[in-house]
Amino acid sequence: ILDTLKRELKEITDMQEFQNLKSKYLGKKGLIKSLMNNLKDIDDVALKKQYGKSVNELKEELETIFDKKLNELKEKGREAKEKKNWVDITIPGARRKIGKENLITKTRKEIEEIFIGMGFSIAEGPEIENSWYNFDALNTPEWHPAREMQDTFYLSLDKEKLLRTHTSPVQVRTMLKSKPPLAIISPGRVYRKDELDATHSPVFHQVEGLYVDKNVSVSHLKMYLEVFAQKFFGNKVSVLLRPSYFPFTEPSFEVDISCIFCGGKGCNVCKNSGWIEILGAGLVHPNVFRSVNYDPKVWQGFAFGMGIERVAMLKYNIPDMREFYKNDLRFIENL
Ligand code: PHE
Repeated sequence: ILDTLKRELKEITDMQEFQNLKSKYLGKKGLIKSLMNNLKDIDDVALKKQYGKSVNELKEELETIFDKKLNELKEKGREAKEKKNWVDITIPGARRKIGKENLITKTRKEIEEIFIGMGFSIAEGPEIENSWYNFDALNTPEWHPAREMQDTFYLSLDKEKLLRTHTSPVQVRTMLKSKPPLAIISPGRVYRKDELDATHSPVFHQVEGLYVDKNVSVSHLKMYLEVFAQKFFGNKVSVLLRPSYFPFTEPSFEVDISCIFCGGKGCNVCKNSGWIEILGAGLVHPNVFRSVNYDPKVWQGFAFGMGIERVAMLKYNIPDMREFYKNDLRFIENL
């Protein structure tokens, strides 16, 4: 019996076959059971005892053999499973690219932080403007060349609706909404009919600044711009106001910073003057105050407007404005 069983067991590879074989020997209708049934036919007491004992021994032996086989089968199953799920932990991981903040956004936040630190709050206005906010209220009447078709994207034939050409209309909206004194900056997108080149884009970003109080003078303007420039470009930077013209400020200035931040006079952005322009500014024109019903005899103010791309190009040494809009990964990753 044992030899037969061992031979049969060798053939077995899965659990189902194993269970079948086991019940053939040890099951309710199995071999051991039928051997036990023979007991009742033996009359001799000693023989009966002897027979019973042998069958029991056989049963125990069979059970041991089956248990051993069961363990073997389980072990084989575990190994097979392990092989299937094998992972090569020495393969280098796939690197995922991590997103970066857009440089214009990053620069805008830097500018905002600096002015918020000086007590300014943030104001916003629409990109689709009425010509009154974009021009008339800013002392830029109908005949002014800035209102020409070739500069402005008009959205209606009567030239009433347009894409704002600067963030200055937010000055007007803010003053109409609130009473002086006030100090706000207003970042946002602006539009001009410019061809895209290294320094121009039909869409770009500005930050407007407006400060209104009593007894405001050019020295206030200069002080705030100097603190801004030093925090943004580095603490050795100085600012220079050059006389200029804007319809909505009087006097008006173009504001330069010294070229310390890029290695001094002669560095590639500054060329030889030692100064580079970063923004336009001035004292709020009395006519602008009049159009928002502020009394220009009581209130004075300064305003400025700077290009976000422009200051970002200077600070991060970007030679071509088109880089901002190309989304070339080699540019984005190097920021
Ligand atoms: N709005 C002007 C421009 O876009 C900048 C400016 C703003 C100048 C405020 C003076 C005062 O060029």
